[in-house]
Amino acid sequence: MKINFLVNKRPVTINSSPGRRLVDILRIDLGLTGTKEGCGEGRCGSCLVLMNGNLVNSCLISAFKLPDAEIVTIEGYAQSKEYANLKQALEVTGAFPCGFCSSGIIMATGNLLAENSSPTAAEIREALSGNVCRCGDYDNIIAGIRGGAAKPQSRRYGKTR
Ligand code: FES
Ligand code: FES
Repeated sequence: MKINFLVNKRPVTINSSPGRRLVDILRIDLGLTGTKEGCGEGRCGSCLVLMNGNLVNSCLISAFKLPDAEIVTIEGYAQSKEYANLKQALEVTGAFPCGFCSSGIIMATGNLLAENSSPTAAEIREALSGNVCRCGDYDNIIAGIRGGAAKPQSRRYGKTR
């Protein structure tokens, strides 16, 4: 089937069977490899993207749900001022030794900061409860997020409806 949708504010058209997963469409068809696949079954958060303004595990979204959807991936979020602040703060704390979980954690964090611009460590842990960091670097990640949150935030990314 032919599917039209938006990715990072750009219209895209793909040909796909209805059951293909969004994570594969992003990575293989569209070359957006910032979105990672970890568990492939909705338990690790590595593949998080925004779909119509809501965080979703792209490994659980089938192509038939995509017509007219608006998707934001880490590549889209990376264009925002808030991402720049966050990235800088995470570099200061030396978070993400291997980096595999970083795009999912940053997407979840962007979603949190859009609703709560100065979260406590407990609120960050709660927001990241669906994200697995296999390196166990949670303390540096949370410290970096708190540092990034202390800087001015811009309006919510990817939210146009
Ligand atoms: S790869 Fe999608 S939640 Fe783990
Ligand atoms: S930094 Fe390695 S999985 Fe999180």
